[in-house]
Amino acid sequence: PEIYLNGLAEQTPPFTTDPTALDAAAREVLDDGPYWYVAGSAGSGATDRANREAFDRRRLIPRMLTGATERSLRTTVLGQELAAPVLLAPIGVQSILHDDGELATARAAASVGVPMILSTASSHSIEDVAAASGTGPRWYQLYWPNDDDLTVSLLDRAKKNGYTALVVTLDTWTLAWRPHDLDLSYLPFIRGVGCAVTFSDPVFRAGLEKSPEEDLMAAVLTWVPLYTGTDKTWDRLPFLREHWDGPIVLKGIQHPDDARRAADAGMDGIVVSNHGGRQVDGAIASLDALPEIVAAVGDRIDVLFDSGVRTGADVLKALALGAKAVLYGRPFAYGLALGGEDGVRHVLRSLLADLDLTLGLSGHRTPAELRPGDLTPR
Ligand code: FNR
Repeated sequence: PEIYLNGLAEQTPPFTTDPTALDAAAREVLDDGPYWYVAGSAGSGATDRANREAFDRRRLIPRMLTGATERSLRTTVLGQELAAPVLLAPIGVQSILHDDGELATARAAASVGVPMILSTASSHSIEDVAAASGTGPRWYQLYWPNDDDLTVSLLDRAKKNGYTALVVTLDTWTLAWRPHDLDLSYLPFIRGVGCAVTFSDPVFRAGLEKSPEEDLMAAVLTWVPLYTGTDKTWDRLPFLREHWDGPIVLKGIQHPDDARRAADAGMDGIVVSNHGGRQVDGAIASLDALPEIVAAVGDRIDVLFDSGVRTGADVLKALALGAKAVLYGRPFAYGLALGGEDGVRHVLRSLLADLDLTLGLSGHRTPAELRPGDLTPR
């Protein structure tokens, strides 16, 4: 109603309310490097496209006369109550999209009550983004450094700054073959963008001869090997448990056996994700991986989902297949590019309104009601 009423005063939304049109709108305002860093994916883009096709192949089957005028999006994930089954996916280097970067995103997310997952590759420090979040809900995403002291320091800082869950991303221990970025020779980290969390860390700084402010290149060259290549295997997970007393979620799971290992290792949840098709080109569509994973571990741990979610209907499809909540990725990044804090807020409020209407019109009162039978078979 708000949007239609604004129309009476000849006020239209700041930019499109169609989440599938944000990409083209952002293309108009971004330079090639930043645009393709966000829009691009690995290799031929096959998995990025497959993510969307997997949603398009499945259709909701609406139910009538269910009393769905009364409804709520509230959801419990990892024992935490969320305003909706939606979180902002961890997206690094947001200052390539807008000067305020993660600070704008944090303010917008807090104002809507949707948790922001702060990336280790953020362009602002943990402390500054937490201050921008205020009392807003927030989780911390770890790229797991090849240095235990630094890891412990990052976890301590996240804890001290009010981050209530840890998301450990496993699928990006090195960057994939991303032709758009290679063709443009565009990599934000080379210029120190996306290194703020680490550059502001006391353990990292203690290991440098000159501070990152004095010698950026030396700091970047120290940063790169910390986050590239990996000595991590499943037997290292107890280390994280030891140093983080809240819930831990493993992000990047695509195989049911890995989901079982996560549950066996005492993890609290997983994110079924292929990083938006940005890592393994030719990998299974994330939505196609979801049902078997839910069958394997859905009764033991919370299964979250991302990769390809664009509309309210997409959220419902993932919920019907057993996800507890979804992470929203590229669309909010385009909103940031198009309008900073207001842009992220517009994208988020539009998604939640679309989700609420589509939930009700398909005959449901809560996100937890959705079942596989509410979808057409593959
Ligand atoms: C990401 N993603 C990501 N994931 C993560 O764990 N840490 C990170 O720093 C980033 N950075 C990042 C940057 C950009 C520009 C993009 C587009 C993505 C992956 C992200 O969390 C999520 O998995 C995908 O964005 C989901 O796919 P869709 O919905 O964007 O297609």
